[in-house]
Amino acid sequence: MAKKMHLRSSEWFGGKDKMGFVHRSWLRNQGYPDDYFQGKPVIGICNTWSELTPCNGHLRDFAEVVKKGILEAGGFPMEFPVMSLGETLMRPTTMLFRNLASMDVEESIRANPLDGIVLLTGCDKTTPSTVMGACSVDLPTIVVPGGPMLSGRFRGEKIGSGSMNWMIKEKQNLEGYTAADFTEAEVCVARSIGHCNTMGTASTMATMVEALGLTLPGFSSIPAADSRKKLFAQLSGRRIVEMVREDLKLSKILTRKAFENAIVTNAAVGGSTNLIIHLTAIAGRIGVDLKLEDFDVVGSRVPLLVNLKPSGKYLMEDFFYAGGLPVVLKELEKRLHPNTMTVNGKRLTENYSQAVCYDRDVIACLEKPFQEESGIAVLKGNLCENGAVIKPSAASKELMKHKGKAVVFESMEDYHQRIDSPNLEIDKDSVIVLKGVGPKGYPGMPEVGNVDLPKKIILQGVTDMVRISDGRMSGTAAGTVILHVSPESTVGGTLALVQNGDTIELDVEKRKLHLDISEEELKKRKSVWKSPEPMADRGYVKIYIDHVEQADKGADLDFLVGGSGSKVERDLH
Ligand code: FES
Repeated sequence: MAKKMHLRSSEWFGGKDKMGFVHRSWLRNQGYPDDYFQGKPVIGICNTWSELTPCNGHLRDFAEVVKKGILEAGGFPMEFPVMSLGETLMRPTTMLFRNLASMDVEESIRANPLDGIVLLTGCDKTTPSTVMGACSVDLPTIVVPGGPMLSGRFRGEKIGSGSMNWMIKEKQNLEGYTAADFTEAEVCVARSIGHCNTMGTASTMATMVEALGLTLPGFSSIPAADSRKKLFAQLSGRRIVEMVREDLKLSKILTRKAFENAIVTNAAVGGSTNLIIHLTAIAGRIGVDLKLEDFDVVGSRVPLLVNLKPSGKYLMEDFFYAGGLPVVLKELEKRLHPNTMTVNGKRLTENYSQAVCYDRDVIACLEKPFQEESGIAVLKGNLCENGAVIKPSAASKELMKHKGKAVVFESMEDYHQRIDSPNLEIDKDSVIVLKGVGPKGYPGMPEVGNVDLPKKIILQGVTDMVRISDGRMSGTAAGTVILHVSPESTVGGTLALVQNGDTIELDVEKRKLHLDISEEELKKRKSVWKSPEPMADRGYVKIYIDHVEQADKGADLDFLVGGSGSKVERDLH
């Protein structure tokens, strides 16, 4: 029997004074009867719907379904909009605004008469930004992931949304694709409502929140267009009302063990490197100590269990039909902390004990994985004193141990200007070094680390080279790409000092990334290095540049780390 509790919202609606009158009265214009203000848990539906975020374009509909569930369970639903981050349209990069959106979520929740929260998420940053903001308040919270698109087909070939982008240059150069071909492909790739349908960042984030225990079991892998998605949305609406009555807050679910479960799961599904930066930031908000090294220690020896793009060949729809994340979590039973709490009030592994796999070509068993070791390798060395990362499952085996001469680009603009120049001295063994794409430098750490190879190398039939940068990589991309180099070049990390022709050694097995020049030479270069002018001198971007932390710490703003709880603020009087 759920216990009766004091509701936070009663601080607004329970008052018999002038302010109680004000708080209730204006809401009456929407037709709410008396009983709505007499002890019903008020549930905020935090909606990242926006026409500018195509991946979340269906979330207005979903909010209505969630509302039904909340009403059925005796709650009072209140939908509110927050800043939405659409990956395909926002410039210079959505990552610049993740922390801003999280502030919007946090303050919107705390300032309003809310007892529980439903987060409607989809496109990449809409999941971490909302979860980060909610963590800093720490109310009972459930996530409704918007779901992936259905699989697209182009001329008989299955195409992953996102992954196709990275093949465009190759298709032009090697298969003679024309503009008309691309127009035709455009409409085939984005097949239905939903977010990217590979195990890119959006699917990784949805998987992450389920593994953390923040969604109903099995919710994250259901395609957006599948009727079961709405069913789960409605059930989530019902469940959040109970969670408020049980006082099942985020901090009771998001323990250190839950974060470790998310890391293990991410490795098994071949998830995006972006998980590192977002999970670290979420941990920082809820007060869990998570270090970059933890991703390697906890996750790097986990076998790859799914055959999904970009590491494999299938798409999220296939994953769902094969049994989806529940099968993976069941397979991982012995590798996970079994007793972490989840939003339905049950322990993690208890939720998945009955999962059945329907296609072993899509989801392997633990005894016969697609790859023995997956996850993220964290590299250290004089080129990345605070670390850098690589996703071995998306990299080329033959390049995992490599020595090559640096070909340096000082910025993205420099890269675009020279990469296809016939005079560029580069061969397949060179190491492409890209500077100025870190958190402060770009600013916002865009997903550019997997820069295209030069045309002349592609024409030799080469499909991968070692690339190093302080930026990120899209979860839909692949390649031997070293990312998140910290400290970044803009703050004077060693990356800033690399020059054309320097030898760089990569040894993923030994977790080593080394710039082969003497200490004296490094010191000499450092002494003449000048920090670049900041990219903004006003507004939010200036705040961001002044306060953003380095990649190894999750690139949150330093003053946002932690939380301020759900304490009801003083009234407006
Ligand atoms: Fe939104 Fe890929 S662009 S998830």
